[in-house]
Amino acid sequence: MNIELLKKQISAAEEAALEKTEQDHHRQGYHLMPLSGWMNDPNGLCYFKGEYHVYFQHSPLDANRGSIFWGHYSSPDMLNWTLHPNFLYPVDSWDCNGVYSGSALVEDDRLYLYYTGNVKHPGNYDYIYEGRGHNVGLAVTTEGIEPDTNQCILMNKDYPEGLSCHVRDPKVWKLDGKYYMVLGARTREDVGELLIFESEDKYTWKHINVIRTPEKMGYMWECPDIFCVDGQWIVMTSPQGMESSDYIGQNVYSCGYFPLYGDFRGEYTLGEYCEADAGFDYYAPQSFEAPDGRRLVIGWMGMPDAEYTNPTAENLWQHCMSIPRQLTWEKGQLYTRPAKEMKKLRKHTYTFACETELALTEDRCSETEFYNSGSALCIKVGDSAEIRWEEGLLRLSISETAGCGRTERFLRLPELTKVQMFVDASSIELFFNEGQHVMTTRFYPTETPVITIKGTGTGVHYQLASMNFGWNKH
Ligand code: FRU
Repeated sequence: MNIELLKKQISAAEEAALEKTEQDHHRQGYHLMPLSGWMNDPNGLCYFKGEYHVYFQHSPLDANRGSIFWGHYSSPDMLNWTLHPNFLYPVDSWDCNGVYSGSALVEDDRLYLYYTGNVKHPGNYDYIYEGRGHNVGLAVTTEGIEPDTNQCILMNKDYPEGLSCHVRDPKVWKLDGKYYMVLGARTREDVGELLIFESEDKYTWKHINVIRTPEKMGYMWECPDIFCVDGQWIVMTSPQGMESSDYIGQNVYSCGYFPLYGDFRGEYTLGEYCEADAGFDYYAPQSFEAPDGRRLVIGWMGMPDAEYTNPTAENLWQHCMSIPRQLTWEKGQLYTRPAKEMKKLRKHTYTFACETELALTEDRCSETEFYNSGSALCIKVGDSAEIRWEEGLLRLSISETAGCGRTERFLRLPELTKVQMFVDASSIELFFNEGQHVMTTRFYPTETPVITIKGTGTGVHYQLASMNFGWNKH
């Protein structure tokens, strides 16, 4: 692969995509999306030298996912972004079939980016148990814009016995003067688990532990993350092949967390698994620490191998990220709220009280906070989406035209005190009861939707400004 030639092709693809944005009603106003091509997982999230960095899985030349690179946005405030040239290209022997997901470690004015080098050996292989290399690469950079050095530090032979070839998505952190890495894995018996490695120097790693549930929970755990928030250790991951029951596991793949009691390096027990999001489109979330100590998380607003689709591919792009969210540990569970930066987008505040029914103004980008005091509630986003709560059950339904295959999702919700809803040109994010539960979905309305509320309570509606992505009108 010739990088110079590639860069020319990417510029041409970006120009072609840019030309389509004017007529594209589904381009988002305040969600990170690729200028051209396909986006999936957030990677290498960090705050480094005064800027937030969001690297991401990116296929710039193919909106339906082709070769995977690392794309890159940075921002001083998470509102004004710069889109940089791709940071990693699949050009080395250890990553030639895709530079897959990974994470960032900031130390000594340097950024250490750990990623998965995907290699498919030519031959008649199944690429699960044979024929695939899942290596760990390490790119080090002083500015974050391009790697100063890049090397392979772990290969399948370095992983413990009994695993399939699927071992990926390193997340790295520092604790007590040592470095830790967690990798997602699929065993040869098709059990999902996480591998813990330890290092003294960031380059040489020793396998020290395995994190798994006593009973099998799916065949592969992707995109793991281990962190401590408000004194509670959390294991977050995206399990594939999980059984579904009682509105848990409604999507093809899940994504959620366990509280971890004990020590991830030794003896531990995992608490109950909770899904991170009950909507259609949220996967592979990654957390990082903001400079003020907040634990922030961004997820991919997509779902691999889902039966529903996104018509934006016709306009040469597909998928976006969730808004940044803050995680806290409260009352024995993770709470997820919009990051406070989102408040800076608010303009045209409209306070309202709702007795029976109320129509709000049409906005492409809006936020609505509703304090519910009734026993049932129905919020409509035009004719495209409906959020209905009654008798302890919440139903999110997307219309046939706007859903592109999305139908309905449910959430058990005995009590509903507050709904905070973020609507963008083609997405809805719902935060219930101050972040006790979240639902995220893409939707593709044909008109700018009018939000109507049927229920009792008070609220505030905000028109939101667009973010500056560096290439859009905002
Ligand atoms: C999750 C995932 C990761 C992998 C990446 C490849 O969406 O499958 O496990 O590293 O996407 O793009």
